[in-house]
This record gives sequence, C-alpha cells and structure tokens, in this order.
Amino acid sequence: MNGLDGKVALVTGGTGGIGSAICARLAQAGCKVVSTYMDEAQANEWQARMAAAGHDVALIRCDVSSFDDCKAMGDKLNAEFGGVDILINNAGITKDGTFRKMTPEQWNAVLDVNLVSVFNVTRQFIDGMLGKGWGRVINISSINGQKGQFGQTNYSAAKAGMHGFTMSLAQETARKGVTVNSISPGYIGTDMVMAIAEDVRNQIIAQIPVGRLGKPEEIAALVAFLAGEDAAFITGANIAANGGQHMG
Ligand code: CAA
Repeated sequence: MNGLDGKVALVTGGTGGIGSAICARLAQAGCKVVSTYMDEAQANEWQARMAAAGHDVALIRCDVSSFDDCKAMGDKLNAEFGGVDILINNAGITKDGTFRKMTPEQWNAVLDVNLVSVFNVTRQFIDGMLGKGWGRVINISSINGQKGQFGQTNYSAAKAGMHGFTMSLAQETARKGVTVNSISPGYIGTDMVMAIAEDVRNQIIAQIPVGRLGKPEEIAALVAFLAGEDAAFITGANIAANGGQHMG
C-alpha cells in the first residue's frame, strides 16, 4: 500500500500514546516496525498487547538522549535490517513549569530527549538512506513549537528546534530521494495531555475550534501519508494537525 510494504520503520518512543498509533498504522501498511523503549517490563507488556491486536513490532532498548546508545542501536539495526528506510523521531517528554521556576534539570532533560535525540538518532541512519536513494525522516514536533505555551519554554524551544533541523536537513538530502518533514500535532488525547491539571486542560480544549482533543490515529494517518510514495514532493514542510487551534 502506497509503497510501504517491506520498508523498515523505526519509531522512537513508539510505546507511548502517539507512538503506539504510528507503530500500528505502519505495521498495518506492511512495514517492518521497530520501536525504541526505556522500561523493559512495560515494553514487553506493550509488545504483547500490540501482537494481540495483530501488529508485529520489534523492540530495541535505547536512551535517545545518549549518542553512544544511539550509535549501538544504529550498528545493530543497520546490520540486522540493512538500514532504516523510515525514521520517525517521536520520543518526547514534558517537564512543564514557568520559566522563573524552571531548573537546569528540567531544561536539559527536555532539550536532550526532544531535540538532541533527533541528531543522535538521525545521524545513525542518514548515510544508509542516501546510499539507497530513498528515505523518510518524520519529526514529531508540536503546536507549542509554533505558537509557544505558558509553562513550556523548554518544550517549545526543543519543538521549534526540531523544525529548524527539518528544514536544513531537507535541503541537504532532497536530491538523493530522502524527504524530511515535521508534523506539529495539537493537543492529542494521550497520557501526556491528560497529565495537565484538569482545569487548565479544559481551558485549552475550549480554545480548539473543532471542540475536542485530537486522536493518536489522526497523527498516525498523516505519518503514513508522508512516509509513502504519494508524498515524495513534500519536503521541509511542517504540517499542522491541531483542530484549528493555531493557524499560519
Ligand atoms: N497565560 C497567562 N497567565 C497564566 C496562564 C496563561 N496561559 N496560565 C496560568 N497563568 C497565570 C495564573 O493565573 C497565575 O497567576 P497569578 O500568580 O497572578 O495568580 C500564574 O500564571 C501561575 O503561575 P505559577 O508559576 O504558579 O504556575 P503554576 O505552577 O500554577 O502552573 C503550569 C504552571 C504547570 C505550567 C500550568 O500553567 C500548566 O500546566 N500549563 C499548561 C502547560 C501545557 O499546555 N502543557 C502541555 C503538555 S502536553 C504537550 O506538551 C503535548 C503537546 O505537544 C501539545
């Protein structure tokens, strides 16, 4: 379907809310899907649930904020699968707090996991994609990298940084059949969003013109489209999926 059959797809943080939907969608489309994880017991349980739903997803342990971990993962996947064709940089965390209260730990953890990781992981697979003359890098950014968000100087900086990376790498790889794009989801109904205090969350939902949170499957569908042949002319783009909460 749409040229995805047999392609190798790596989803960082694939065991999370949006990540799970991306893994399921790409597996359904015929990709060999691999997800990174951090917590082994949780990941094994997740893998069993995915299998029960008919989705075959392989697991690899990797702290994406560590270049050495990513190098080891790259060596392993390049040897075992002959490279990664489709890379989804999806791993992300929040450590919200107003800037006046923000600690260096909160700042560094969010920058390392959400942005430095994009360098660490992509660096392992880009030569393979360029060598094959085909590849897809899809960076899961955020509405809050586009508009900013009270309490998220760290997260918004990282997410805006991801798209800067997207635009630059897209220019470097366009002639070799490798597209690089960002997706900027709005507020999606995942554990990350449900962790926001209920009153604050309700105020946010009230600002979404379609009147609801997004669904992880709505982001996964966009990922599958960008990964496919039909999207070969789209590169360096930042595609919003936010229910109309931010336009422009
Ligand atoms: N704009 C302006 N002022 C605001 C405000 C806003 N949006 N929100 C709160 N304030 C004000 C309050 O009214 C209060 O004012 P007073 O001191 O005058 O009473 C003050 O700011 C509160 O400041 P505090 O430093 O005490 O903040 P807090 O500890 O109560 O809460 C926060 C801070 C935890 C960051 C909270 O504002 C919050 O949870 N905000 C939402 C953050 C958010 O959207 N996170 C997204 C997570 S999901 C995600 O990131 C996925 C994705 O990609 C979309």
